[in-house]
Amino acid sequence: MEVKITFLLTASFLLLTGPAFAATFLEGYLDNGNFEEGPKPTDIKKTVLKGKYALPKWELNGFVEYISAGPQPGGMYFAVAHGVHAVRLGNEASISQTVKVKPGALYALTFGASRTCAQDEVLRVLVPPQKGDLPLQTLYSSNGGDTYAFGFVATSNVVTVTFHNPGIQEDPACGPLLDAVAIKELFPPRPTRDNLVKNPGFEEGPYHLVNSSHGVLLPPRQEDLTSPLPGWIIESLKAVKFIDSKHFNVPSGFAAIELVAGRESAIAQILRTVPNKFYNLTFTVGDAKNGCHGSMMIEAFAAKDTLKVPFKSEGKGRFKTASFKFKALSFRTRITFFSSFYHTRTDDFGSLCGPVLDQVRVVPVAHM
Ligand SMILES: *[C@@H]1O[C@H](CO)[C@@H](O)[C@H](O)[C@H]1NC(C)=O
Ligand SMILES: *[C@@H]1O[C@H](CO)[C@@H](O)[C@H](O)[C@H]1NC(C)=O
Repeated sequence: MEVKITFLLTASFLLLTGPAFAATFLEGYLDNGNFEEGPKPTDIKKTVLKGKYALPKWELNGFVEYISAGPQPGGMYFAVAHGVHAVRLGNEASISQTVKVKPGALYALTFGASRTCAQDEVLRVLVPPQKGDLPLQTLYSSNGGDTYAFGFVATSNVVTVTFHNPGIQEDPACGPLLDAVAIKELFPPRPTRDNLVKNPGFEEGPYHLVNSSHGVLLPPRQEDLTSPLPGWIIESLKAVKFIDSKHFNVPSGFAAIELVAGRESAIAQILRTVPNKFYNLTFTVGDAKNGCHGSMMIEAFAAKDTLKVPFKSEGKGRFKTASFKFKALSFRTRITFFSSFYHTRTDDFGSLCGPVLDQVRVVPVAHM
């Protein structure tokens, strides 16, 4: 009973935070966002949900199953990281919910998702006119599925959030598993007088699911305008991980970035600069104290200048600061960071990990 009450409180949809004059903003699970409110017995046959409105607060289309964590008929095992229930989207199936938002505001959805049988499963997230396809073939953590974020800008005061399985597998019961959906309004940060970098310590970012110790994966090809990590672009092919100080060691503040996919994932930002002026780029490199050991290296790029920063991780949550001077070549300068190497956790070879990046700072310096 006690657990249930705690859950209802954390799931409460509208939270008023910050100073009294700040408007309410969304932060937390969507309604029945972790699928713990189940269907009526008449709305489900074995695991298959019957009808559009079989699952409270959601609208269903196609073959959607209601799954309980643990061993499944047919010998599979589903780990459900957030609560005990999840939905599985069959071929071309989808679930949706409408959400009240503020037009023009930036939001991030955070959701737990994993593939079930097929290697090439994709989860499509739609918040029209925005959409994203999330390939699920890379498993970033081996136990209990991964948590992802998707950012969007609201175009009206009500949006429809849809999760869709665009695939067609031979077995209709194959398809991605979705086990929790949360939302958070984000505040686009601005550069300050003593730092040209927006959101320099990664403090503004997507919601961390309650009790999720995996961090939140930020999928690649996020445009700056709708990035779930305001100010930053996630480049290349794979995700970077947004980590919180509750479950990881972060060098400063409440959050940082873990570069979990080697050269296949980079994080970048475009700064406003003055051509031919010199700038000093400073950043912190460390390890998250999460069993990620070895010789690491972060490569940083700014205009035509680069720096490789080696860091030897003993998994103790240490960090160090590096800096270099670069010369801006135009009014816009891209700064980029990636990890030179791939790493996996010593206690779990199935979980990708890597160096931590935090406290990025760019300031003009005198010409020398
Ligand atoms: C989070 O974990 C704590 C301790 O294990 C548990 O009491 C609580 O119910 C969990 N909350 C949710 C929302 O799962
Ligand atoms: C850049 O900033 C760092 C940290 O403040 C400082 O240690 C370093 O000397 C600076 N480098 C230059 C070239 O100004």
